[in-house]
Amino acid sequence: MEIFVVPTASATGSVAAGILAAVIRSKPDAVLGVATGGSPLPIYAALANHRLDMSSVRAFALDEYVGLPAGHPESYAEVVRREVTERLHLDPANVAVPDGSAADPEAAAADYDAAIAGAGGIDVQILGIGHNGHLAFNEPGSALDSRTRVEVLTERTRVANARYFSTPEEVPLRCITQGLGTILEARHLLLVVNGADKAGILAAALNGPVTADCPGSVLQLHPHVTVVADEAAASQLA
Ligand code: F6R
Repeated sequence: MEIFVVPTASATGSVAAGILAAVIRSKPDAVLGVATGGSPLPIYAALANHRLDMSSVRAFALDEYVGLPAGHPESYAEVVRREVTERLHLDPANVAVPDGSAADPEAAAADYDAAIAGAGGIDVQILGIGHNGHLAFNEPGSALDSRTRVEVLTERTRVANARYFSTPEEVPLRCITQGLGTILEARHLLLVVNGADKAGILAAALNGPVTADCPGSVLQLHPHVTVVADEAAASQLA
C-alpha cells in the first residue's frame, strides 16, 4: 500500500488526478470506477485540467440510491453526469450507474456486476470512506466477499448525506452498491480522504483489524492500494 499525505483537500485531487492521468495515457480505454460524495470532487476538477483524450475511457459508478425519481438532481446518475461525464468529456454511452429505479433492483445489481466483468473489470477504482468505515454503501456488517446488491442505508449514512437533500426524510432508505468483493476485484484501488473528521476511521481501516465492522479495512487485503489523504485525515495513522 502506498500512502501520500498532502497539505490540503485540493492537493489530494491533484495527486490522485496525476495517478489517473498516467493510467489513461497508457490505456486510453481504461475502465474507471467512480465515486460520488465530496471526497473525489477535487480529483475530477484536477483531472479536467489534464490534456487527455477521454473519448474511449469507460466508467462505472460505485453506487446509486434506490427509489429516487429519474432525473432527481441528487441521484448518483445525475451527480456522475454533472461531475464526471460532462466535466471530463466522457462519452455518456461509456458511463454506467446502477439502475436505482429498476422494477427489480436485485436483478439490476446482478446485471451491474456482469457489466463490469463484461468490460474486462475495473482498472482503477476511486473510493471515499464513510465515517462508519463504509466503502461505497457497504455498511458495517457487509460480507467481505459481497457482490453488487441492494443494501439498507444506516441512519448515520442517511444523516451524513442529508446535506444534499432539502429534508433528511428525503434521503432514500435503500441503495444499490458494488459489493466489497466486487471492489476488491478492481486492479488498483485509489482511496481519497480529507478532513479531521475522517482521521479516526482512516486509522481504523488501515491500521486496525480486517473486520466487517469496518468495511474499509478490506483495503488491507488488496495488493495495489494507493491512499491519498490530507494531513488532517492522516493525523492518526500509525
Ligand atoms: C460514494 C460512496 C461513499 C462515499 C463516502 C464518503 O459513491 O460510495 O462511500 O465515498 O460516503 O463520502 P464523502 O466523500 O462525501 O465524505
